[in-house]
Amino acid sequence: MTQETLTDQLIKACCADFYQSDLVRSLLGETLHPGGLELTQKLGETLQLEELDRVLDVAAGLGASAILLARTFGCQVVGIDYGEEQVSQARRRAFDNKLFDKVTFRQGDAENLKDYDGTYDAAICECALSTFPNKPAAVAELHRVLRPGGRVGITDVTLDGPLPPELSGVAASVACIGMALSREGYQELFSHAGFANVQITDYSHAIRDLVKQLQTKVMMARLAASSGIFQVESIDLKATQDLLMAAEKEIKEGHLGYIMLTAAA
Ligand SMILES: C[S@@+](CC[C@H](N)C(=O)[O-])C[C@H]1O[C@@H](n2cnc3c(N)ncnc32)[C@H](O)[C@@H]1O
Repeated sequence: MTQETLTDQLIKACCADFYQSDLVRSLLGETLHPGGLELTQKLGETLQLEELDRVLDVAAGLGASAILLARTFGCQVVGIDYGEEQVSQARRRAFDNKLFDKVTFRQGDAENLKDYDGTYDAAICECALSTFPNKPAAVAELHRVLRPGGRVGITDVTLDGPLPPELSGVAASVACIGMALSREGYQELFSHAGFANVQITDYSHAIRDLVKQLQTKVMMARLAASSGIFQVESIDLKATQDLLMAAEKEIKEGHLGYIMLTAAA
């Protein structure tokens, strides 16, 4: 295993902090990925999840996807996230949904899943692989935790070509954009890790819709802030608006997209 650099640790911590910030929560709600729970449901169907399946949700965020999968397909789900706050919120959500016997959440690092063995029937990772500094390590771990023939399913941002300066900073990286791969890049990553039958489906409309929704919310928040209805960090909102505008342009030009990738171990 390669030594983790300080920069890698900072990126992970920064990403975890970002997704537990009030601003992101108020903008994104309970699901932190394009396509929302509808796309999670589709992912579960594509992986043909069943009642006896044991599923690992890597970078599970606030736990909404794990809970949906357990409720819809009856499977057991273990959700792992780097962020302490995400894990405690997800646990609370599982408790509120009376699903604590089916869904558990633990803190952990996608690039080092040493506490998890190769017996899982399926693993998912929604809109998070793009933020991991060491993607080959994370995908190797996804492969290792699965039983032979187990299925993996991710949804994530795709990036083709260089990004404009507005989307090249840390904010864009933790927002799943800056360090995303091309469709071919993901295909190669999974094939190289030993996965077979790698299938990719385009869901770029999901990221287009999410950016539109976010633009409306940020605009409303800025209006409310400027008229004094409530107090928000207006600097953050302006920066968010600029980032969204730049992302919209890249999506329109076909440089940014969203995919579902499934494969077998
Ligand atoms: C865009 S959010 C997606 C969350 C969830 N999958 C969803 O779709 O709602 C990215 C999540 O990845 C988590 N994360 C980032 N780096 C991680 C790592 N190395 N291991 C585990 N989780 C990580 C963050 O804490 C954050 O909750």
